[in-house]
Amino acid sequence: MKVLVIGSGGREHAICHTLKKSPLVTELFCAPGNAGIAEIATLVPIKVMDFDAIVDYAKTNAIDLVFVAPDDPLYGGLVNALEDNGIKAFGPRKEAAIIEGSKAFSKEFMIRHNIPTAQYKTFTNYEDAKVYLENYEDFPVVLKADGLALGKGVIIAQNKEESLKALSEMMLDKVFGGAGNTVVIEEFLTGKEMTVLAFTDGKTVKCMPASQDHKKAYDNDLGLNTGGMGAFAPTLVYTKEVETETIKYIIKPTIEGLKEEGRTFKGVIYFGLMLTSKGVKVIEYNARFGDPETQAILPLLETDFMKIVLAVVDGKLGDVEIKWSKKTGFCVVVASGGYPSNVVKGYPITIGNLSNRITLFHSGTAMKDGQLVTNGGRVICVTTVQQDIPTARQVVYEEIDKIQFTDMRYRKDIGIK
Ligand code: AMP
Ligand code: GLY
Repeated sequence: MKVLVIGSGGREHAICHTLKKSPLVTELFCAPGNAGIAEIATLVPIKVMDFDAIVDYAKTNAIDLVFVAPDDPLYGGLVNALEDNGIKAFGPRKEAAIIEGSKAFSKEFMIRHNIPTAQYKTFTNYEDAKVYLENYEDFPVVLKADGLALGKGVIIAQNKEESLKALSEMMLDKVFGGAGNTVVIEEFLTGKEMTVLAFTDGKTVKCMPASQDHKKAYDNDLGLNTGGMGAFAPTLVYTKEVETETIKYIIKPTIEGLKEEGRTFKGVIYFGLMLTSKGVKVIEYNARFGDPETQAILPLLETDFMKIVLAVVDGKLGDVEIKWSKKTGFCVVVASGGYPSNVVKGYPITIGNLSNRITLFHSGTAMKDGQLVTNGGRVICVTTVQQDIPTARQVVYEEIDKIQFTDMRYRKDIGIK
């Protein structure tokens, strides 16, 4: 089959890398891709939101399946556009991707279906939200821009002053653009965070090994939220008991609730969870593979990835047995100095002689006049699979400084907690 992957990050590199191993995949394309993906797939210079061009390309080139990885095109309706043109697509239609696309929707959905989540209130009016925060007592408090904001639209405010500043930035200054027209203000949950990704065809759900992301920019969870600075899987927090509770109270009711509401979800669903003293609660849903969780998880997959992808699309996931390695997948993101704020692109990257225990997944890289250069906030994801977290940490951190570019930065504490 000829497969076209949509996206350009480390996640998409890991997806391409894993699809490439499938005997079912004869030709691999990626739009728009990056310099790392270029080594294993044909890059197609089309932007992820240019739906007409993607549909045209798929038709003209007899693409058998389009794998839509990022949130924007999913929520924007790329899968709808492809399917409506008779092209097979992996990923939820926009009616289902709304669980990520609108935080206000996803909170209301959880209330409707009795799915445990943080207490919250939704505001579309700045003055009302301001009065609410002025009277709020139980800081910290969490402010979330309703729409998609590259994983950065969440602010945890430690006190009233910080919360009011964040609110005016979101609702008045529009630092997250239109995403901030509606703001969810919610209770700050404490506990252990984890991520569960699952394949679903809308009926059957098959979970991947639970993972742990590291969202804050700096060591010891300091600084701003990012898309994610490193991840590993499986996480030991997700015990058998936690798994049973999560499936019963969160995963099943979510998939069934979506189906009941005429929003059948097909693709990968992402549960951002907090294990609190009062049980597991949903922090957020995503309608796709996470980045960088994917770079840690997919190297553990022992079943033909394309077989799973097809089973999801064809509604036959129940027929496929999915096998995972018992080892630990582990990755650390090497980022540009200013990330997640101002990022300078175009610095030359040098990569020394890496151990074969390392796989690099490129996030923001490009080729310029034959030279590999930085081309985004997150630049390269350094990945390994080892028998446990301490070994994986050692392997990655021994090798990581062989990558060099101006102002590069990475967290040194991935997997420590
Ligand atoms: P989200 O984009 O909703 O996943 O939020 C990004 C990160 O903010 C999460 O991974 C959590 O670390 C943190 N966060 C979001 N909501 C809450 C909450 N209600 N309580 C505590 N931390 C939260
Ligand atoms: N790493 C978090 C996300 O992909 O949303």
